[in-house]
Amino acid sequence: MSRFIPLIGFLKPAGEYPAGWRHPRAPRAAGVDFRFVAAQVRRLEAARFHAVFVPDLAGLPDVRDDVLERVAVVNDTFEPITLLAALAAVTTDIGLIGTASTSYSTPDAVARDFASLHRLSGGRAGWNAVTSLNDAEARNFGLDAHLGHADRYARAEGFVDAVRRSWEPDDGGPVIAQAGSSEAGRALASRVADLVFLRALPLAETAAFAGDIRARAAAEGRDPASVRILPELPIIVRPTRAEAEDAFDAVRSLLDSAVALADLEYWTGADLAGLPLGASLPPPSAENGSRGAQAEIYRQARRDGLTIGDLVRLISAGDGAVVGAPGDVADHIEQFVDAGAADGFTVSFPWLPEALDAVVKLVVPELVRRGRFRTEYEGAGIRARFGLQRPGV
Ligand SMILES: Cc1cc2nc3c(=O)[nH]c(=O)nc-3n(C[C@H](O)[C@H](O)[C@H](O)COP(=O)(O)O)c2cc1C
Repeated sequence: MSRFIPLIGFLKPAGEYPAGWRHPRAPRAAGVDFRFVAAQVRRLEAARFHAVFVPDLAGLPDVRDDVLERVAVVNDTFEPITLLAALAAVTTDIGLIGTASTSYSTPDAVARDFASLHRLSGGRAGWNAVTSLNDAEARNFGLDAHLGHADRYARAEGFVDAVRRSWEPDDGGPVIAQAGSSEAGRALASRVADLVFLRALPLAETAAFAGDIRARAAAEGRDPASVRILPELPIIVRPTRAEAEDAFDAVRSLLDSAVALADLEYWTGADLAGLPLGASLPPPSAENGSRGAQAEIYRQARRDGLTIGDLVRLISAGDGAVVGAPGDVADHIEQFVDAGAADGFTVSFPWLPEALDAVVKLVVPELVRRGRFRTEYEGAGIRARFGLQRPGV
């Protein structure tokens, strides 16, 4: 594989950090400002990022109204396919990955939308196949509750196969990304995904995940090297470590405590209403959309005896963000790649435009200086970018 490390830009225009939208220099209504979004994506393209990735939910996050009005939700953004089609017209090389749900769309709709995007962008499309997360999404489709975890993965298996079959005649169609971390999620990802996303986790856990996905891919008869493992990596970088920490502290101070608590409820499925911060985490009262994340938080809470307050502080610390000088960030990236824990990263930006700007100005040149990042795109189309010739090969 190329010594160059692939990076994807995780595009949440209001910023990945829950208080990022409150940053004094964050533009208002960033998510529906096409000029702003296009400028960010062109910055990523000029920096030779492999792709931009647009997340999506099929509804609002399932949180109380008083919390909802204090966050910038993914639904404050453009719908992924129309956005990516517009971006295709104002970019030339960067890959365009969008999210569509296997629980609430149909295979023919997804196959057609992404085949169309692939053709009109000159072979740059990717589909992030998600099974969706919460009951609010289900209610948008006439259901009272989200499909159970096993049911939605069973549906996803057949759904993805149908989409892939329809792309087969156009050998080397859009790439497929998947981010499941549960047993069923890993089974699906290792069987069908070209790109595998996961949350930002410490090195040992990321390496274990990568090893598991590669072993499962081999058991499916695939070349394990044909799966690109690209964990999320929120980056806050400044010329010095102290400046980066100061910049992050300033944004953390903008985090509303109700939002932090709701975030913890969301990830754990636990009802924390009325509990003191010194209490330990009660068992979940609801199945959470993300089993992997839920299990991970409970494991950590048990292992380290963490209280609700400790967990809120942990979550407000930016969910695995790397905060430091350019050398710190480049060290982190190289360490994960050289240990075989990741092939590259899905870089998220805690607030925009500053965090993205800083990655492009400070981290990319440092990686180039170390001979680990390209200065020119290689090949044409998203498959060539990732060194993936045909689906699953
Ligand atoms: C980097 C990353 C991006 C994701 N983007 C989305 C998204 O846009 N929409 C969505 O519904 N879920 C998204 N997810 C959630 C996954 O699709 C999946 O539901 C989650 O990882 C839980 O999988 P599990 O139930 O197998 O643990 C994302 C997860 C990660 C790690």
